[in-house]
Amino acid sequence: MDKDNVQTILTGDRPTGKLHLGHLVGSLKNRVELQDSHKQFVMIADVQALTDNADNPEKVRSSVFEVAVDNLAAGLNPQKSTLFIQSEITALPELFTYFLNLVTLARLKRNPTVKNEMKEKGFDEDVPAGFLAYPVSQAADILAFKPTLVPVGEDQLPMIEQTNEIVEKFNRLYPSEPPVFNKVKAMVPEHGARLPGIDGKGKASKSLGNAILLSDSNEEIEEKVMKMYTDPEHINVDQPGKVEGNVVFTYLDIFDPNKDQVAQLKEQYQKGGLGDVELKKRLTKVLQDVIEPIREKREYLSKNPDEVMKILEKGTEEAQKVAQKTLEEAKAAMKINYFT
Ligand code: TRP
Repeated sequence: MDKDNVQTILTGDRPTGKLHLGHLVGSLKNRVELQDSHKQFVMIADVQALTDNADNPEKVRSSVFEVAVDNLAAGLNPQKSTLFIQSEITALPELFTYFLNLVTLARLKRNPTVKNEMKEKGFDEDVPAGFLAYPVSQAADILAFKPTLVPVGEDQLPMIEQTNEIVEKFNRLYPSEPPVFNKVKAMVPEHGARLPGIDGKGKASKSLGNAILLSDSNEEIEEKVMKMYTDPEHINVDQPGKVEGNVVFTYLDIFDPNKDQVAQLKEQYQKGGLGDVELKKRLTKVLQDVIEPIREKREYLSKNPDEVMKILEKGTEEAQKVAQKTLEEAKAAMKINYFT
């Protein structure tokens, strides 16, 4: 398909581990759909991962590979999407440097997602400066590719807001015709980043150990489903059980292709007479069916790392050209293009 006149998308993942079912419904599926109708850039944000993993480069490096494999196994097609590594794009730290002048320290400290993450990680005043400033770096990630749409989870909305503030300020201070940057729109998928963890406590997350990974074996899937949070007051099969907040039903709602049967099961569960184990057996099978083809493709790619690295290299080369062009436009608008 000729993609000259379609909208551009930029999205990305922080490589800090393997991806899980939350990513599959929150972003990967969306990417696979959008790649037919949009120009799509998918960034593996290793520089951002290092902002709070500076002491763990091995983890970041191996996760870059795993995240690439997860994306490809879920159906990202390198012929249709550009998959690339952030740290290789030399224009990004340059743009980041210029953007830092457009943002105040007070504004950085107010970003609710960063605030939240700082609390979770126990940073307080000892936050790495690079971590505090990562929304500005993310604005560079985004704007270098001049996208109109940025698919992200709900927690990323403050980043998009800050990006658009930078667009406004940049265009005001460095006007050009047409303006170098345009505002972007967040695109939050239906299930957002909201897939609950198997413990029902919060969203699924690899670091909390409550997520089902795209690389999990059938046995691991079964084990995790059997541990899943249901209705703690539903002790005997005959008792009526609660559907709301019951993680097994949340997952069935999202992953079970047979919605009518799920509706019937809910009715039966609420009346009494349907046991958790029976339900969990059904969910196990449903999730095994979802993950199996992805896991198989993952295994193939993991055994053929050269193939994966070639895809990344080619995508990175393409991304570098696009970002470099934007950087040159930005520098011209800023009057720091001395020798051109
Ligand atoms: N901050 C994003 C996350 O934690 C990852 C990311 C980095 C990103 N750069 C991006 C997402 C640019 C969208 C656009 O998930």
